[in-house]
This record gives sequence, structure tokens and C-alpha cells, in this order.
Amino acid sequence: MTTWLLTGGAGYIGSHVIRALQESGRDVVVVDDLSTGVAERVPEDVPLIVGSVSDRDLLERTMREYDVSGVVHLAAKKAVGESVEKPLWYYRENVDGLLSVLEAMSASGVKNLVYSSSAAVYGQPDSCPVVETEATVPLSPYGETKLVGEWAVADAAAVADLSWASLRYFNVAGAADPQLGDTSVNNLIPIVLRSYRNGEAAKVFGDDYPTPDGTCLRDYIHVADLAEAHAAAAAFTEAGGAAEAINIGTGKGSSVLEVIDSVSRAVGAEVPYETVDRRAGDPAELIAAADKAERVLGWTAQRDLDDMTSSAARAAGL
Ligand code: UFG
Repeated sequence: MTTWLLTGGAGYIGSHVIRALQESGRDVVVVDDLSTGVAERVPEDVPLIVGSVSDRDLLERTMREYDVSGVVHLAAKKAVGESVEKPLWYYRENVDGLLSVLEAMSASGVKNLVYSSSAAVYGQPDSCPVVETEATVPLSPYGETKLVGEWAVADAAAVADLSWASLRYFNVAGAADPQLGDTSVNNLIPIVLRSYRNGEAAKVFGDDYPTPDGTCLRDYIHVADLAEAHAAAAAFTEAGGAAEAINIGTGKGSSVLEVIDSVSRAVGAEVPYETVDRRAGDPAELIAAADKAERVLGWTAQRDLDDMTSSAARAAGL
């Protein structure tokens, strides 16, 4: 049985990744500073070390003590708007944190890394579905830190003989269990659920985009599917897989209005909404080409938009 270190394992995505790694037969140890993570999300049989990923010595000690063979590095800041307001903090947290992980891996001889990247590295791609070889032109400091991270991983891997995969997440939603829902209310589905609960109209940011119903298209991916992609990526690196950046999406776009319709089905009532101005910086369309994940990882998404909205509604107590 191999042991994987999961940074940020007490977070929304991390707590799902713990379970997927366990189900794939791996042991897990978590490092999380609990700044946004919740200790109760970490199962009792998983050691939780409370500390920062910037604490290189703590990471190195943990890797040695638990005989860690691979790292899933999730701990990071992820709010696009906040990153525009606090860019240096995002570089500090996301880039410094990763460098510390890479240095600790090098010092303790850990060779396998699954790095949490984002579709935000593409910015506004020229064509959709977007393939991994598309130009990367991020539109926010958040996306920039994820792209710099991909470069740091590739450069470090070249000299340290690492096996790695950078997973470019698309729009993550849903919950495998009502206890594991996204509590941050930063993204469309949690925002629509909150406005419905408060008896307010959800806001649709623009309906004059060049898309079938005029609202933006995104590739929504169930967090349980995303978590299973990490187990597949862990296996890929253990098999000595080559260095790869891989989209993690469904290959299918849903519009903002389709999401609101799906939320209406989930709560069993018509969810009110109003159209407001476009939000600055939103690409009209961001949809993954999903074939590389299938080819390289043997993974495809199994769950659909209704699974995401219904599980998110349950997690929100609706
Ligand atoms: N939207 C609304 N109303 C809202 C909130 C969002 O209409 O109240 C729209 C947005 O304009 C966009 C879509 O819903 O078209 C999804 O917006 P989110 O803010 O949920 O997500 P983004 O697509 O902007 O970004 C998300 C993550 C990023 C990640 C990116 C990758 O927040 O971290 O997906 O695709 F980089």
C-alpha cells in the first residue's frame, strides 16, 4: 500500500480526493492550515497535520515520517476576483507554496506529483472545446499563478526525475455527500442556491453572448468525478507516466440558464432570475476537450449537471 500526501485535504475538493485515493487502495496523510479547510471533513483514519505548505521542514518531516511516495498538491487560493485585488498574496500563497512542496519532495526523494491547475490558464481560448496544446493566456493573477506553477513543476521535474500530471480543472460543482459540500459560495451553483434560499432573484451576467441562449457556456464537472481523476493521475505517475497537462472536464458545455433550470429541478420550484450586465473578463465559452484525459488516464466523467445541482442542493440543506 502506498501513502500519498494531500495538501489542502480538508478543503471542498481535497476531502473528495481523500476518499477517491482511499477507494483506489492508497493511504493518505493530509497537511492543511485550516484557513478555509474544515477538520471534520478529514476521515478519522487519515492523519491531519495542521500547518502551512510554506513550512518546507514540516512537509519534509511528514514525507519521511509517513514514507510518502506521492503528493497531490491542492492547497491554494482560488477566487479569481480576490486575486485581482490581492495579486501578491496569490503569488505568495500559490507559487511559494508549490515551491516549498517541490523542495521538500526533492529533499526527501518523493518522485510522484499530481498538481492542481485550472482551466483559468487558457483565459479566452480561440476555439472550444479547448485542447491542452492551446495557447495559455490567463486573464487573472489566479490563472497566472496556476500557469507559473505548471512551469515550475515541469522545470523541477526535468532535474529531479519526477513523474507528474497537471490537472486543469474546469467548473467544479456538486458533492459526494451532503457533509462535503462547497461552503464558499464563490461559484454559480452555490450562488444560485443561496439567492433562492434568500428569496432573491439569481443574477445572470449577460445574455448577449454569441452562444445559443446568449448566456456563457461552461464545462461543469462533478467534484466526485474530479476526485476520481486524481486517483487515475496518481496511478499514472506511479506507472512512471510522462509529464502531462490534462483537462479535467466533461467535454460538454452548459449555459447559465441551463444551470438555473437544473437548479429549479433540484429544488422542485422555479428559481427566479434577472439578467444584469456582463461581468468583466468572462469568456463566452470555456469547454474542455476531454479526450486526452480518457486516453492518458483512462478516465471520463460519469455524472451530469443534474447530479451536480441536486447534490449541491442537498448539501445546502435545500
Ligand atoms: N455567473 C452568473 N451569475 C452569478 C455567478 C456567475 O451569471 O451570480 C456566470 C458567470 O458569468 C460564468 C458562469 O456563471 O459565465 C460561471 O461562473 P463562476 O464564477 O462560477 O465560474 P468561472 O467560470 O468564472 O470560473 C470558475 C472558477 C475558476 C476556474 C474556472 C475554470 O471559479 O477558479 O472556473 O473554468 F478557473
